[in-house]
Amino acid sequence: MTTAEIYQLAIRLGVEADLRGRASVKEHLRHAKQQYRQLSKVARADFDLEKLINPYADSRILVDLGRAKIKKILAGIDMEGSELLAAKQLGDIDLVLAHHPEGLGLAGLSEVMDLQADVLAGYGVPINIAESLIKPRISEVSRGVSPANHDRSVDMAKLLGLDFICIHTPADNLGARYLVDLINKKQAKLKRVGDLLKLLLTIPEYAQAAKQKTGPTLFAGNADNHCGKIAVTEFTGGTSGSKDIYEKMANFGIGTVIGMHMSEEHRREAEKNHINVVIAGHMASDSLGMNLLLDKIVDQGVEVITTSGLIRIKRN
Ligand SMILES: [Fe+2]
Repeated sequence: MTTAEIYQLAIRLGVEADLRGRASVKEHLRHAKQQYRQLSKVARADFDLEKLINPYADSRILVDLGRAKIKKILAGIDMEGSELLAAKQLGDIDLVLAHHPEGLGLAGLSEVMDLQADVLAGYGVPINIAESLIKPRISEVSRGVSPANHDRSVDMAKLLGLDFICIHTPADNLGARYLVDLINKKQAKLKRVGDLLKLLLTIPEYAQAAKQKTGPTLFAGNADNHCGKIAVTEFTGGTSGSKDIYEKMANFGIGTVIGMHMSEEHRREAEKNHINVVIAGHMASDSLGMNLLLDKIVDQGVEVITTSGLIRIKRN
């Protein structure tokens, strides 16, 4: 496989797993095309054309030196200067695969967050409410990442002669889809929040994280509480959404939320609105999605080694 083929495989898998469903993803791409057509010639010159074919602005090829075949990848959660130097030191790494966005992917992080509104709509929160709450938060995240040194690690990869890509939302989609399918399968046994925590611990990434004191944790509610409707709403779609969503979630029938991580401010709002919050754990959750992707890459004959907090579990 080439770097471009590995990237395209990740995007395709991300679309297939997308909680919005494929029709909704296609509609978003159609909308992007429509917006592009309406732009002036001057504005088109700066338009990120990749947005017309790839619905995940936080996942990009950052460096592709045109290698004919990628034999070995170094993959991890945060892949920055030190990890890139390690890749070079190892001597036989062709491509560095980061989960968290870098470069153009980091600058585009806020652009994937509209996914959250559709996912919430799938759980019963009217789209107009979900959308109007996420929009100001998207602007906030966009302003928040704006002062970053976006290309710092990209420049390092270029200097070291390494191919470099970041795959964020497609991997998170794979993890979210895995959880949704598992919860649907075990629905009959998931009466109380404690049952849900036990179910998460049957997933090897979470079992391993629990041994390191970073496993699934109850952030709000009680293990004896009934779950009500379980929603995987804080697992994919860039980063944390609006703290004002919990009141709406409660009003529209969501009882328990599963997330990767949660700020104290968000947690307080969830608690105030009687929502149980199960925080599955950040690195373990990121690892779950990345592992599902890495297995597919390995299937294509590429060797993968991991670092930077990625708990590697092979399922093939
Ligand atoms: Fe993450």
